[in-house]
Amino acid sequence: MGTLSINKSLLEEFEKGLDPRHPERSKIPAKIIGYGEISTIFEIQDQTQKGLAYKRLPIFKSRSEMDQYESIYNEYNRLLNEEVGIEVPDHGFVEIIPNEGNMVVYNVQRMLPPASIGNKLLHTMSDTDCLILFELVLKELKKVWSFNRKMTGVEIGIDGQISNWALKDFVESRPAAIAPDSKLLYFDTSTPLFRVDGHEQINPDLFLRSAPSFLVWLIKWLFLEDVVTRYYDLHMVIVDLIANLYKEQRPDLIPDFIERANNFISIEAKELDVKPINAKEVRSYYREDAMIWRLYLALRRLDRFLMTRILHRPYVYILPGKIKR
Ligand SMILES: Nc1ncnc2c1ncn2[C@@H]1O[C@H](COP(=O)(O)OP(=O)(O)OP(=O)(O)O)[C@@H](O)[C@H]1O
Ligand SMILES: [Mg+2]
Repeated sequence: MGTLSINKSLLEEFEKGLDPRHPERSKIPAKIIGYGEISTIFEIQDQTQKGLAYKRLPIFKSRSEMDQYESIYNEYNRLLNEEVGIEVPDHGFVEIIPNEGNMVVYNVQRMLPPASIGNKLLHTMSDTDCLILFELVLKELKKVWSFNRKMTGVEIGIDGQISNWALKDFVESRPAAIAPDSKLLYFDTSTPLFRVDGHEQINPDLFLRSAPSFLVWLIKWLFLEDVVTRYYDLHMVIVDLIANLYKEQRPDLIPDFIERANNFISIEAKELDVKPINAKEVRSYYREDAMIWRLYLALRRLDRFLMTRILHRPYVYILPGKIKR
C-alpha cells in the first residue's frame, strides 16, 4: 500500500467544469469505469491522469467533516492492510472546496486492470476457477473476523461483494490464472466501517447525503441501521456476497457457492461460530436488497428531476444508468 500524489489544481479545474449528468461531456472529460450503489468511479481524460481511478464524493458540509472523513478513510486502509493483512491498492485523497454547494472529496486509487475485477472474472473464468476465487475471498474475510475476535477495542466491518476484489499480479494479455495461493486486493475502502470501543467511527448521516432530502427520514427509519450492521456480521456478509451473484448474472453458481461457504463455516472458520447459509435465505435477501436499491435509484432520479426541472437548481450527483439486477 502506498500513497499517490495527485495534481490538485487539475482536479479543481475538473470539478469546475464537471457536467454531472454527462461526465464524458465535461470540460475535462471523464470516462466512467464503474458504478457503485451510491458513487461513480471514473478516469479523468488527461495525459497525466492515466492509470488513476477517481471516486467523487460531493457530500460534505464543512471542512471538519472532510478532515474527519479523511482520517477515518486513511485509518481504515491502514487497519485492513497492516492489522488484518488484506492488501489495498495505492491510494490518495483530495479535498475540493467549490465556490458554492457541497464540499467534494476525491478518493483516488491506482487503476486496476478492469479484467482483474471479481465480477468480470465471474464471466471469463471456468466455474472451477470461480469457486477458487470465492474461496480466496472467504479466506480474506476470515482474517477480518479473526482480528475482531482479538478484542483489541477495534471492530472492523467489510463489504465482501465479489465486485470489491481484484486479482493481484494479473497480466492483461494473458487469460486470468488463478490458484489457491493467488493474492487478492480489496479496493472498496471508501465506506470505512470500523468501531472503536463500540462506536461507529464514520457518521452514518454521510451515507444519506446523496439521498433525496424528502427521503432521509424514511431511510433512517427503515434500513440505515440494518445496512451498516450487516457488514459486521460474517454470516450476513457471505449471504450478501452470494446473493449478489443474481445481480452479476451468475445465479447458476449459487448452489456450489453455498455448499463451499458452509464447508468453510464448519471447518476452516469453525472457531468463528458462523451460522450456516441456506438457499432460501439467499433468495429472499436478494429480493429485498434489489428492491431497496432499485427504489432508491428511482427516487434519486425523481429528486434530480424535481431539482433541475421544477426548482431550477443544480443537481450535483452523478447517477448510474440502467442497472441489470
Ligand atoms: N481502483 C480501481 N481500479 C479499477 N476499477 C475500479 C477501481 N475502483 C473501483 N473500480 C470499479 O468501480 C466499481 C465500483 O467501485 P467500488 O466497489 O469502490 O464502489 P462502491 O463502493 O461499490 O460504490 P458505493 O460505495 O457507491 O456502493 C468496481 O466494481 C470496479 O468495477
Ligand atoms: Mg463496491
